Parts: sequence; C-alpha cells; structure tokens
Amino acid sequence: MTDSRSFDAIIIGAGAAGMFCAALAGQRGRRVLLIDHSPEPGRKILISGGGRCNFTNIGATASNYLSANPHFAKSALSRFTPADFIDLVDRHGIAWHEKTLGQLFCDGSSKQIVAMLLEECAAGGVQTAFGQAATIEHRDGAFHVLVGKDAVQAPALVLASGGLSIPKLGATSFAYDVARRFGLKIVEPRPALVPLTLSGEQALFKTLSGVSADVVAQIGAGEFREAALFTHRGLSGPAILQVSSYWRHGDTVTIDFVPDLLAGWLRQAKRDAPNNTLRRQLGRTLPDRLAETLSDQLGHPHELGRMTDLALEAAERRLSAWQFTPNGSEGFAKAEVTIGGISTAELSSKTMEAKRVAGLYVIGEAVDVTGWLGGYNFQWAWASAHAAAAAL
Ligand code: FDA
Repeated sequence: MTDSRSFDAIIIGAGAAGMFCAALAGQRGRRVLLIDHSPEPGRKILISGGGRCNFTNIGATASNYLSANPHFAKSALSRFTPADFIDLVDRHGIAWHEKTLGQLFCDGSSKQIVAMLLEECAAGGVQTAFGQAATIEHRDGAFHVLVGKDAVQAPALVLASGGLSIPKLGATSFAYDVARRFGLKIVEPRPALVPLTLSGEQALFKTLSGVSADVVAQIGAGEFREAALFTHRGLSGPAILQVSSYWRHGDTVTIDFVPDLLAGWLRQAKRDAPNNTLRRQLGRTLPDRLAETLSDQLGHPHELGRMTDLALEAAERRLSAWQFTPNGSEGFAKAEVTIGGISTAELSSKTMEAKRVAGLYVIGEAVDVTGWLGGYNFQWAWASAHAAAAAL
C-alpha cells in the first residue's frame, strides 16, 4: 500500500474488468488503487475456458448480449473491439487459436492473461491492496474507503466486483449493495449459463448422464445449435447453458434432436427400410442410448413399416420439438455468469458513470449486460473497463 492517501480513482474488484480499467487509467497518468478482498487477482480468468481463457469472440456485437436495454452495450463494444484486445495479447507474445464459432483461447494457459493484465497495471503505476475487505463512505464529493486499516479517498470509485456466480471463488453482492445505497436500481440477478435440472417424469433422462448430442435448443428468443449433454441432475452442455440465460421458472426448453433431417424423413425411412425400428433409425443420427430412450418415450417399438404415416409425422414433430420443463437450475454455485445486475438505465453507456452519482462507475459483470457463452463476457469486461478508464 501507499503512504499517499489520495488517488484519482479507486477500483473495487481485481477481476477482468477491474484490472484492465486500472491498467488503462494508470497508463493515462491517473493515480489508481485497485482493491480486492481475495489475495489472488483474476481468479475467474484463471479457471475460465477450461484453464485456457476464452478471452474474446471475434464476432462480438451487442446482439450477443442480454440486457433490459439491448442497445446499451453498443457504444462501449464499438470503441474497444475484439481486434483491440487481440492486439494487446499479441503485444505480450501470447499465442492463441480460434476453437470454434469465433471463440479465441490461449494456446498455453489463462495464467498468461492474468500476468498480462498485472504487467499492464504495473506499467500504469497502479497500486494494489489485495486480500483486504473495503468499506465505503461518500462525503464532500469524494469516496472514502477503509481498506484493511488504511483510509484512502478519491473523487472516482469504480465498482468492478462482478456478479454472484461462484461464491467459492469470491463472488459477493458488494457492487449491488453499494449501488443500492446510492439509490441505483438493480435488475434482479439470476444464475445464467447454468445447467438446468429435471424432475418428475423427465427425471428418467438423467439415466442418460454423460450422453451428448448436437441439437438446436430454444427458449423464447434464445435459439442455439450446439451440443446438449444429459447429466445426473438434468441438462447441460453449451446449447443448454446458452438457453439457460433466457430461462425463467415454468419455461419450457424445446430441443430439436434431428436438426439436419428434413420434414418427411421418417416416412422416407419407412419406404427405404420398412423393417427398421424407430430406435434403429434414430440410432443412425443419435447416440444409441438416447435413441432408445426417445423411441421408448414415443411408444413405437415396432418396425417402421407397421406405423401409419400419420404416426410417423407425429413422431417427427416430437423429435424436432421435444419439450423439457426444468424444475430449476444448478444455481449461482454452478452458473458461469449472473444475468441482471445494476440497471443500465442508471449508467452512461459512453462512460459507465452513474447518471445520478458523479464519480461512481460500474463495469463488467456487475452491470445488467450478460453475454452468450463463448468469450463474449470477457469482451464486455474489457470494453466496459475501457469506456470507464477513458473517463477517469
Ligand atoms: P470478476 O468476477 O472476474 O471479478 C470480480 C472481482 O471482484 C473478483 O476478483 C472478486 O474477488 C472481487 N470482489 C468480489 N466481491 C468483493 C468485495 N466485497 N470486495 C473486494 N473485492 C471483491 N467468460 C468468457 O468470456 N470466456 C470464458 O472462457 C469464461 N469462462 C468462465 C468459466 C467459469 C467457470 C466462470 C465462472 C466464468 C467464466 N466466464 C467466461 C465469465 C467471466 O469469467 C466473467 O464474466 C468475468 O470474469 C467478469 O469479469 P468482472 O471483472 O466483471 O468480474
């Protein structure tokens, strides 16, 4: 810590958004203090992307984000793009590759991204206070922060302490609590990018634990073609995590198990191979155990040749729009992100500053902007951090 007690900006949360904001503001000559209650910065970065950090998505636009105001993210995302972050990664000599769907990962390890951000902070002369809790007071136009035993102050305070996902990695409601104290509205935070759970009649699908299939999953406006995975608690895999962000209690998930087959495929199969059973026919496109469960559920154990065209059409319709009604999700303990958060209506989309509280900024996941799976959430962290840093 410092012997100087005044800073230009105090940033709470040394995750993706907080570290990047601190580095950029420091490099603009601002005196910055970066605080985190965890002794280790960037813990979510470290475990992200299976340890390789899916640090951006080259296709990121505002349409890949959920928010009460779908336009809010446009300004920040357009002023700091995936290409800008790739430049930074390249300058640090970090090798990366595109895995699929525009998702960029480190070839080596997520540790390289944390090390890069810390080097950038050091280049900006950022001071740090890690492993210490902070309390905040606002008086005489300044933010007074008690961190450990040190009293510090600044005219600007940046809330970068993230959402509620994965409390065991240090997630807290700090940003929301401070925002509420200042009278800012919060859009109800909910777990997102999270496995969904099944009960009742549909619990039998849990016996397929470990089976996955390429499907189209859909809830409302969210429709994704990716893998779905059955688990011992219900449904997971990228397709399910994606639609979980659109799910609310009582909603149905519609799954197309045969997205590549054209209408009439079962009637055609009956003509081509009338002695085939539905299970065997389905087994050509789906894992055997899933084909068995679906055909059992459809109640057609006979050869296709013994089924009427009407029955085959009905089976096709169910297979391409199978309805699951989850009874819940695996909650914040397993959610990759938190949907909802500090209302965008309270913030300037240009600077991320609270409209009604001069000097208070909110960035990253604490804001009601939630990305799809695939590097979009980090891109929001970088872009919102950049927007705030330019204003500090
Ligand atoms: P973040 O949560 O990163 O940082 C908040 C910081 O604030 C933490 O360091 C925390 O300790 C600190 N803090 C919290 N409460 C505090 C308090 N009271 N006082 C002081 N400090 C406090 N996204 C993506 O784009 N690509 C990916 O590959 C992945 N992978 C992934 C895997 C897993 C398992 C998870 C859980 C999440 C992802 N994500 C992801 C999502 C991504 O990690 C997330 O959106 C960003 O880390 C959000 O960045 P923030 O800086 O806003 O919050």
